[in-house]
Amino acid sequence: MTELPEHLLKRAAEARARLTGEGGGGGDTAGGDAPAATPAVAAPVAAATPAVPEEPKAPEPVAPYVEAGLNRKTIPAWIIPVLLFLPIWAIYYVGFLENPPAEAGGLLVEGGEIYSGQCSSCHGGTGGGGTGRQLNDGQVLLTFPSVEAGASYDGLAGQIAWVANGTAGTTTATYGDPARGGGAHTPGSFGQMSGFGGGLSAEELVAVVHYERVTHGGLDEAAAEAELHLLEELLRVMEEEGTDLGSGLQAEDIQHLVDTARASAGGDAEAAAG
Ligand code: HEC
Repeated sequence: MTELPEHLLKRAAEARARLTGEGGGGGDTAGGDAPAATPAVAAPVAAATPAVPEEPKAPEPVAPYVEAGLNRKTIPAWIIPVLLFLPIWAIYYVGFLENPPAEAGGLLVEGGEIYSGQCSSCHGGTGGGGTGRQLNDGQVLLTFPSVEAGASYDGLAGQIAWVANGTAGTTTATYGDPARGGGAHTPGSFGQMSGFGGGLSAEELVAVVHYERVTHGGLDEAAAEAELHLLEELLRVMEEEGTDLGSGLQAEDIQHLVDTARASAGGDAEAAAG
């Protein structure tokens, strides 16, 4: 190394000075002391070399749209089953809106509320009886069988009259089906029940009667639906005629209204069918 011509060493020192921007006087000193300059030149050049690769520290050749794609938030995996289930849920929801509320939300629900509020204390929450007669296990339909069940006597009117009038307000010797198994029921034979014709509206009274017949009596679905339509028609007839269930109407009178309702409900059905 020491054999290098001095002018080369001087040029190298100058180049180094230009590169590093320091030691402007390096060339001068090199002229005076060549051997000392040699390591000085070799080292900084070697040091400068790694300094150059520092530049590519900004690896930005990634295009903005690629970067956007990489950083974008992806859709979480759990959303997929949710999205798949959504239309199924929508169909069920719409179907539910179209069908049940007309019946489930109607007289039956209203009747259930009245029963638990005004009748269950004597007849039991499920109609098992207590101070009042047992209604469940079909008992209520034995006393008040319906035409739909194939009986000769239509007890629907009798049950409405009974609940309206109670023990004291019933003027007939027996109530309900005269041919009831075990004998016709006589007012006062089980105790005293007050009438609800004055306290409940016609709709409320008819609703609780329907509730007992369906829930305790066990009317089958078709019979329950037929009765529901009949009762809706009956309420219309009663409103038309200004019927007051608190006025002491007996089973016979109410039977007349039920017959009228049945005729017009049947007429509607025939009209709809024809
Ligand atoms: C204070 C107790 C009491 C309450 C409250 C009561 N009942 Fe009664 N219920 C009786 C008694 C007692 C009898 C039997 C009456 C008789 O023998 O004269 C009876 C009989 C009946 C019967 C006839 C059952 C049969 O097979 O003979 C029906 C139907 C009935 N109740 C419905 C109702 C309804 C509907 C309500 C509520 C709106 C109601 N009861 C509230 C005590 C009650």
